[in-house]
Amino acid sequence: MMNFAATKNIYANITAIGGFVPDSRRTNEELSLICDTNDEWITKRTGIKERRILADDLATSDMAVEAIKNLFDNYNKDINKVDALIVATSTPDMLMPATANIICEKLGIDNVWAFDLNAACSGFLYALNVASGLIESGRYNNILVVGADNISAFVDINDRSTNILFGDGAGVVLLEPDPEFGVINSILKSDGEGRKFLNIEGGGSRYPARLGHLEKNFIKQDGKIVFKKAVNAMSETCTEIIEKNNITVQDINWLVPHQANKRIIDAVGNAIKIEEGKTLVNIEKYANTIAATIPLCIWDNIHQLKKGDLVLLTAFGAGFSWGATLIKWNL
Ligand code: ACO
Repeated sequence: MMNFAATKNIYANITAIGGFVPDSRRTNEELSLICDTNDEWITKRTGIKERRILADDLATSDMAVEAIKNLFDNYNKDINKVDALIVATSTPDMLMPATANIICEKLGIDNVWAFDLNAACSGFLYALNVASGLIESGRYNNILVVGADNISAFVDINDRSTNILFGDGAGVVLLEPDPEFGVINSILKSDGEGRKFLNIEGGGSRYPARLGHLEKNFIKQDGKIVFKKAVNAMSETCTEIIEKNNITVQDINWLVPHQANKRIIDAVGNAIKIEEGKTLVNIEKYANTIAATIPLCIWDNIHQLKKGDLVLLTAFGAGFSWGATLIKWNL
């Protein structure tokens, strides 16, 4: 018998979902023509076969707008009821204004509380938790939570330690109040020491453009350290949230992990001992789309999730930042 530690009067329920990926594909074979890599190595070490790449004249907001349009095209919801928009991204269109403002202007929705949130690959979980709190407070009733990143704009195409891993995309969910279904709770954490091992240093005030620093606009990482920390952090937080809610891993119907590396996903699944077949994976198609991986993975597998399923989301990214969210599903 499940016995959730925290029972609430209002839950923030996901009542609609949308997604978008650019048409343009960059395959492993194409990368093998650019640098010293090959399809066999990339597939074996990461599970990735291809990634989607946004055109140079487009930006993160363009993908987010398409994802939101996809949501409203497929669900009977009213965009004019949206009262807040939170955009999880670490690749904003520009430093200011927020990408959320640009999205509102493109969609023609005014007077909405719109802001960006940067927690890198954990951004969607962080934003989902902020939005859940707003719904539970009773003050907001229709919140769009977007995860969107145009990370290819920050990838050095000649750097095989990063060019194989990342792709562009956007996902979005609509949150509305529900008396029974929705976000049960989240555990979110961060450790600033991790900034040494995964970052894009340029583009901010630390390395201003007036002093050059072009090379600092590329994503850099120590893959081995990130790999180990990601496995440990996601596994520990999943176990913690399972224990906190007095359930067992057998009660979880679906694990939706951040899609960074299939070997990371498998290691987390093994560590928490989730049954085979319960982990949703789509990394082979889109690679790591940063804040978009979790909503895109749910969007891709939406017909598998049934009313009442317990869905465990987990993410890890730059910061370091990480966490887990437990949802009682009803969409
Ligand atoms: N193509 C072909 N060969 C390669 C490549 C490549 N792209 N990269 C490295 N190699 C070679 C190395 O030279 C090495 O060769 P050697 O054994 O002859 O010396 C061998 O392959 C193994 O290299 P490693 O660096 O040990 O490879 P590893 O198994 O650690 O995989 C990878 C590297 C894929 C980057 C992995 O460490 C990883 O995925 N780390 C996590 C990084 C990540 O996900 N970052 C995203 C943001 S954070 C997040 O989202 C969780």
